[in-house]
Formats: sequence, structure tokens, C-alpha cells
Amino acid sequence: MNTETLAAEAAVSERNAEARAILTANDRGGYTVPTAGLYPYQWNWDSAFAALGFAQFDMTRAWAEIETLFSGQWDSGMVPHILFHKPDPGYFPGPDVWGCSGPIASSGITQPPVALSFATRLLAADPALGAAKFAALYPKMRKWADWFLRWRRDEKGAIFVIHPWESGRDNAPDWDNAMDAIDPQGVGHYERRDTQHVDASMRPTKYDYDRYIWLVKRAKALGWDDALMAQDNPFRVADPTMHFTLMRGVRDLLAAGAAQGLDVDGLADQLAALESGAEALFNPGMGYYDSYNCANGIWSNALSNASFLCWFGGLKAPQMEAHLARVLDAAPYGVPSLAPFDPRFDAKRYWRGPTWAMMNMMIGEGASEQGVALGEEVRARTREVIGKYGFVEYFDPMTGAAAGGKAFTWTAAVWLAWAGQEG
Ligand code: SER
Repeated sequence: MNTETLAAEAAVSERNAEARAILTANDRGGYTVPTAGLYPYQWNWDSAFAALGFAQFDMTRAWAEIETLFSGQWDSGMVPHILFHKPDPGYFPGPDVWGCSGPIASSGITQPPVALSFATRLLAADPALGAAKFAALYPKMRKWADWFLRWRRDEKGAIFVIHPWESGRDNAPDWDNAMDAIDPQGVGHYERRDTQHVDASMRPTKYDYDRYIWLVKRAKALGWDDALMAQDNPFRVADPTMHFTLMRGVRDLLAAGAAQGLDVDGLADQLAALESGAEALFNPGMGYYDSYNCANGIWSNALSNASFLCWFGGLKAPQMEAHLARVLDAAPYGVPSLAPFDPRFDAKRYWRGPTWAMMNMMIGEGASEQGVALGEEVRARTREVIGKYGFVEYFDPMTGAAAGGKAFTWTAAVWLAWAGQEG
């Protein structure tokens, strides 16, 4: 072995150790915070990625992450996007602002259900340990999927979000049209905490926050009742993130449930409904998967990293390959959250440009599964950007520069489970 190979191997094992140390440091006992300070609670999809990271060195701890997440599930089946296990004044909006009454203090909205898929991966990685744990979670996971299909599916069969935070892509341009229609009257005074942890140029604007909080207050006034919230809902945007992750989750539950001899009744129908609903998300004018405002049918015309989750959802989608090639040509460090040739692109502002390791993982894996060669390129670039700039929340896709929070759980997890491994 030559010196260069030895040095590269040493760098990888150093990164592996650093990634494990981040997961351990962010562990609060049964759940992991995304990063200390900026996000001091348990976030739904962050936790699912954390489980994949823990699975590389502690499978019991990996299951605990998902079990703790489901301990916050509401009677309706909804699994909240934040569980406020212990009060922390460093985050806004905290439990009082949400005013929810689930089994654990929580937010009142959900997040992309990647936990459904990742639970099946934990099972596959260690069936002896996982079978009983999977079987115990299975009815809860099915109840969450049922809830999505009942309360988050529009007339055309696409899954929509009722708050930008629900998609996880908080300030993506996908929400601009629906956000514009909101007049945030009565939102009152509030103090943001996020900009005390991270530079304001990397975060959503006050315009966004006024509307985020206004939407929370509206739903709180309706007691977080799904049926009441559905009436005259001012914000309903059909979202490829939610649609494709749910589609993948239902597909994985069906396969794993059947293999474990569990009751899979109804799952095939749900999958078929999501497969046909996916067609509603294809923007014919632009030729790619996109989001649209359910109130008026207006497309976002946004080629985002969520557009490329079609493969993760299980679609062949050969027409998306040229789009991926085009954005990778324009952005050297991974799939940007918005195409750099879009005038709304902002290289450092959260979901309006930066590249995110965990989105890259779902895009890269999904593409490779569908035989799209660029899937491996997405992994190589994610590996490179983390290797150069560390385990941060997101990266400038043009320069690779670190952005957002530091010592970030899902970036570390994605390194351990995917990016840090040779193709
Ligand atoms: N991502 C949101 C925040 O920044 C909440 O989910 O606080």
C-alpha cells in the first residue's frame, strides 16, 4: 500500500471516530438532539437518520432512537416533528407556543416519515435483535401512514404539508406562493433564538418567521384538531419530500411486514394510491417533479433536492437524470436545495441553495437503486464535502463552505451509514 492510500485511510478512520463522537455527544439518553444549542430537542426525521448512524456501532441504541420518537405519537397516529422532552429556553418556539397535549410535550405538525423506512433497515441489518422491536413498532408505524393518507392527501392524490416546517425544507421557494397569501396579523411580539446560534444570512427571514408563527397560532386556536384545521386551511402545498418519503416508507413496510408475517392488509392499496398520486407532482411545463399550491394549482417551478427523491420513492423516472446532471454541473459540492441557475438561489440560506448530506443520501441511494449512474457521483461529492469541511448542518454547494449548525447529528450519521463508505 502506498503512502497516499495509507493517509487517505487514516483520514477516513479519523472521520469515522469523529462522527461516532458527535452522535455520542448529542445523545440525551434514548434520543439525540440534531445539534446542541440551535436544536435542543428531538426532531423527527433527524432522529431517524441518527438511528442509521447508531446502527453502525450500537444497534440497541439505534432502535431506542425510533422507539423514543414513537413514544410521542398522538392518538390520531400523527408523530410530531419535535418532542420537547426537557425544557430549553434556547429554542423558539417552545412547548408553550405550540400548546399541544400529546403524550409528550410536542409540536403539532409532523415531518417526512423516513423512520418507517429506516426501521426496516435496522431490522434487515440484525434480524435476530430487530424482529421483536420491529413487530412492536409496526402497528404504530402503520397508524402514522394511515394518518398521512387520511389528512395529508389532496384531491389529486399528492401528499401535502400544512406548514413549511412540516416538509423539513423550511424556507424553500416551494412555499413562497402560499406564504404570500398569508397576512400575519396578530402574530405579536416574539424573540427568535435561531439567529443567536447561527448567522442570520443562513437562516429564514423575519417575513418567513412571522408566517411560521402565525400558522402555529391558527392551528393552536383550533386545538390542533385535524378536521377543524382542514377547513379553509390557508396553507396546503403538495410536497415531493413528503410524498416520496411516505411512498418509500409504505413500500418498505409492505416488504418487511410481509417477510415478518405481520398483517399487511391495505398496504398494497396505499402504495398504489401513492404511486398514482406521484403523477400529480410532475410539472409538465418544467419536466420535473415539483411542488404546487393546492389552493390554486400554481407550480413552484423549483428544481430542488426534493425533486430528485422520486428514485428514493421507487420511481424509474429516467427523465430526471438529465436534470440531475445539469445541477451537478452547476454545483460542484453536492445536490443543491435549489438549482443554482434559479434566480431565487441563495448559496448559504438554509433551503434556498445549500446542499444537505441527508438529502444527498436519499437521492444518491435512490438513484443507484434505479440504475442511475450519477447516484455514485452524489455519494462521492458528499464524501468529499464532509471530508473537507466537517460534520456541519449544510454546505455552500458552490464552494463547499460549512454553513448552519456545527457537530451535526444527521451529517455524522450519513457519513457512517453511507457517504464515508467506498462505493
Ligand atoms: N427547522 C425549524 C427550525 O429551524 C423547526 O423544525 O427551528
